[in-house]
Amino acid sequence: MSDALEPVLAQLAEQVAQEAARRYRIGADQARARIEGSWLSHQALRALARKTPSPRALARTRLYRQAASQAKKDIYYRLRRYRPQSDEFSEGLERLRRAAAGAECQAACEALARSHASTAERWPDLDGFLERTHPVWGDCATLLDIGCGLMPLLFPFDRVDGRLQRYVACDRDARCIEAINAYGQVTPGVLEGHVWDIGDGWEALATQTGIQRYDAALLLKLVPVVARQQPRLLAMLADAPADWLVVTGSRQALARRQDISRRERAVIGSFAKRHGLVVESEFETPSELGLLMRRPGG
Ligand SMILES: C[S@@+](CC[C@H](N)C(=O)[O-])C[C@H]1O[C@@H](n2cnc3c(N)ncnc32)[C@H](O)[C@@H]1O
Repeated sequence: MSDALEPVLAQLAEQVAQEAARRYRIGADQARARIEGSWLSHQALRALARKTPSPRALARTRLYRQAASQAKKDIYYRLRRYRPQSDEFSEGLERLRRAAAGAECQAACEALARSHASTAERWPDLDGFLERTHPVWGDCATLLDIGCGLMPLLFPFDRVDGRLQRYVACDRDARCIEAINAYGQVTPGVLEGHVWDIGDGWEALATQTGIQRYDAALLLKLVPVVARQQPRLLAMLADAPADWLVVTGSRQALARRQDISRRERAVIGSFAKRHGLVVESEFETPSELGLLMRRPGG
C-alpha cells in the first residue's frame, strides 16, 4: 500500500480541513495533517478512492461521508481535551523530572503548561493575568489553587519569595498533580499537589494538607466548567476555605471559534450573587475574564 494518500482523498482532505479551520480553533494545515493521518490507515476508504477518482462522486458515497464526519468529530473532541493524551504528556513530565533547577526546569514547565488547553490559552497574556490578579495573591502566606490544571507550573514563585508559605494545588486529574509534584521536587519549597475532587469536600482536603483556611483561592476557568458539568458542586466551591477568591472564565470557546465572554461573565456573576460573595473588582485579558471576590466580613 502506498504511503501517499490517493489524490482524490488529498483534495477532499483539504476541503474538510478548510471547513474545520473556519469553525474550530485549529489551523488548516494542522487539521489537514490530522485528517490525512487518519485516512491513510482507512483501507476501505482508500480502496473506494482508487475506484472513484472524481471528488464529487466520492464525496457522495456513504463511506466517505462517514469518514469526513468522523474526522471533524475527532478534531472537535481533541480540541476539547484539556491536556494531551498519555505519550506526549509523559514525555513532558519526564523532561521536567530530569531537569535541574533554573532555565532547564523553566523550559520544561513552560512546555508542559503550553500543552494544556487552559494554560496554553493564558500563555500569551500571562504577564497581564499575573499583574491583574497580583492584588490577591501578592501578599498571601497560603494560597489554594482549586482545579489547578497546570497553572502552578507558571506561577511566579520568584515574585513572592519568603511571603508565600504554602501553595496547595488540587485537581481530580492525577496526571496534572504528578507534574506539579515533579516541579515541587525540582524546586523544593512551597508547592504541593493533591489529587482531590470537589465532591470529596473541604475536610478531605484539610486532612491531606493540615490546612483549614487559606488567605486566598484561585478558581481559574473552573466555575463555568463545574456549572455546566456538575452544578450541584457549585455550593461547595463557593464555600472554599479562603477569604479572597479569584474566579475566572474563558473568553473563547475551547473548540469552536466563538466568543463566550458574556456567557462566562454571567455564570460567574450569578455564582457570586447566589452565594453572597462580594465582587470587589473585575478584569479582562485578551483570553480570560475574572472577578476578584471576598467573603462578606472577610
Ligand atoms: C478549564 S480547566 C482549568 C485549569 C486551570 N485552573 C487553569 O485555568 O489553567 C478545569 C480544571 O478543573 C478540573 N476539575 C473539573 N472538575 C473537577 C472536580 N470535580 N474536582 C476537581 N477538579 C476538577 C479539571 O480536571 C481541570 O484541570
